[in-house]
Amino acid sequence: MSGLYVGIMSGTSLDGIDIALTEIAHDQQARLVAARCLPFPDSLKADLLALCAPGNDEIRRSGLTSLAWARLAAEGVKQLLADHHVDTHQVIAIGSHGQTIRHHPELGFSLQIGAPALLAELTGIDVITDFRSRDIAAGGEGAPLVPAFHHWLLSHPVHTRTLVNVGGFANLTIMRPGQAVLGFDSGPGNILLDYWISRTAGQAYDNNGDWGRSGNCQPDLLAALLDDPYFQRSGPKSTGREYFNGQWLDQKLATVPATMRAQDVQATLVELTALTVARAVDLLASDSQAIYLCGGGARNGLLMERLQQFLTSVPVTTTAVLGVDPDWMEAMAFAWLAWCHKNKLPGNLPAVTGAAGLRILGACYPAQ
Ligand SMILES: Nc1ncnc2c1ncn2[C@@H]1O[C@H](COP(=O)(O)OP(=O)(O)OP(=O)(O)O)[C@@H](O)[C@H]1O
Ligand SMILES: [Mg+2]
Repeated sequence: MSGLYVGIMSGTSLDGIDIALTEIAHDQQARLVAARCLPFPDSLKADLLALCAPGNDEIRRSGLTSLAWARLAAEGVKQLLADHHVDTHQVIAIGSHGQTIRHHPELGFSLQIGAPALLAELTGIDVITDFRSRDIAAGGEGAPLVPAFHHWLLSHPVHTRTLVNVGGFANLTIMRPGQAVLGFDSGPGNILLDYWISRTAGQAYDNNGDWGRSGNCQPDLLAALLDDPYFQRSGPKSTGREYFNGQWLDQKLATVPATMRAQDVQATLVELTALTVARAVDLLASDSQAIYLCGGGARNGLLMERLQQFLTSVPVTTTAVLGVDPDWMEAMAFAWLAWCHKNKLPGNLPAVTGAAGLRILGACYPAQ
């Protein structure tokens, strides 16, 4: 079923809900028709954030927050379609990631909320969701899922291409002709950057990395941050807020002298993201034609610069040069995963997630 799909991504940064109306065709074409980002109202963001850590009355809070998330997403979808004169009947399905509130593949589960039944009811469109659990049931990490879409859309017959999605966490997709795709979370992307600037300077994120640029990377702190077993592990691997979070950073900060300025910490966190990505590229993808960034991190000029500094022989750019807007890549990937589900095609890459085999991902909540 080629045609229009809506991808909805609500990522770990908790910056908002990305909605991408995407036209998908069988000949490996995905075209972004229209898109918008709905920032979370402060109260919804606070409720989602609270659910990412253990707390009282979680089941009730999760139920209510899930409904609030779906109402916001449904309004966004309807508005986007109306703005572009697309009737809901023209959309084959919505692929909704939902909001991850716990990611524990090592325990056999990853939980996303987002009331898919309500989303189907309010939009009148089939909703495919819960994409991670089938891969986890087959022994995989359930993440990252976007490498399969990257590969479907952007692999090259001759050149090795490496994509890096820098959202809350950073994940790589290494596509070498004739070989299995590699993909994994290298570690934190923006999650610690957002936490630190929000806590010390009251801003949601560091625009273009300008504030971090006014600081200096602190080698002692960088060494302490890098001293974590996650960075030594090879893929398949995935991570989340339950591991890398404000508490993790605070514990690391407690091990180094407290004389540095807040901007110095920010500069060091940018270095951590850049260095962990660069090390993975050095180890596994040094023959890449280029490194193509997507996700909000592609807007961080300092991060791009540091990455280029580490990777002297590989150009660092964004997926825009491949014709895909870096802001919408992930939401488009979930439109594609809905397309896969509708066409009974597998959506996972076992070499990436570690699953026992290819699996059809997601569960469908029909509109009728
Ligand atoms: N202009 C900018 N300058 C610097 N950083 C930015 C800018 N715009 C966005 N960002 C960063 O990007 C983040 C959002 O990125 P994105 O939406 O790709 O992540 P996400 O929703 O967490 O997705 P993922 O599922 O990939 O983790 C913001 O929280 C912010 O840190
Ligand atoms: Mg986002």
